[in-house]
Amino acid sequence: MVVPNHVAIIMDGNGRWARERLMPRYYGHREGVKSLKRIVSYSSDIGIKILTVYAFSTENWKRPIREVQALMQLMEQTFALELEELIANGVRVKVIGDIASLSPKQQRIWQMAEERTKHNQRLLLNVAFNYGGRMEIVRAVRSIAEAVQEGRLAVDQITDDVFVQYLFTNDLADPDLIIRTGGELRLSNFLLWQGAYAEWYFTDTLWPDFDVEEFEKALASFRQRERRFGSIKEK
Ligand code: FPP
Repeated sequence: MVVPNHVAIIMDGNGRWARERLMPRYYGHREGVKSLKRIVSYSSDIGIKILTVYAFSTENWKRPIREVQALMQLMEQTFALELEELIANGVRVKVIGDIASLSPKQQRIWQMAEERTKHNQRLLLNVAFNYGGRMEIVRAVRSIAEAVQEGRLAVDQITDDVFVQYLFTNDLADPDLIIRTGGELRLSNFLLWQGAYAEWYFTDTLWPDFDVEEFEKALASFRQRERRFGSIKEK
């Protein structure tokens, strides 16, 4: 059975899930962590190698301060509680995003999570945190311009392969399948470069309700896609 090598997920709908239950939005995010745990565990069981999740975008700072703080705290708690289990299960954690502008405490948590899981090989859990696709591309362009200015790189050396080295994901394989829960049909600044040839799967299911059965539906849909990467079907 074909299993995508790299699955990426926009985990949307936590707020609505909580509102439907007359609970604060934070409650939905907390429930969302449980979904994330289920999907991490299942991904590793079925042989997915890379799972990228959109946990906090560069635009999420526009949310009320209470919600932003709650999301930051949730991230801290999750890693405090789950790190040992992630290690035991062979999950390597990597963060992509502008980590340098987070608080020193947040930065320490991400560094610790990456450091303590760096030898794990079963599944790479790539967490997009303070991440935005445009910011990532602009940042890459700036670094490339600097390299050219300093004579470390010639203009005609700038190719796709060189460009990706300047992205947060470096030479990580591109996502094969990108799932968005919560019913919206948009990209929301997620993996703009890396998603160029990804297959997309949109579902109305809210992220806290996204379980193994829902995940299997997305994987079944992926298996039916014919991926041509701009070419034509082989005879
Ligand atoms: C989108 O739902 C969800 C988020 C902005 C946060 C997702 C974060 C988690 C699931 C927590 C896990 C993170 C870590 C690193 C432990 P929304 O709030 O936009 O929902 P709505 O569209 O219904 O309002």
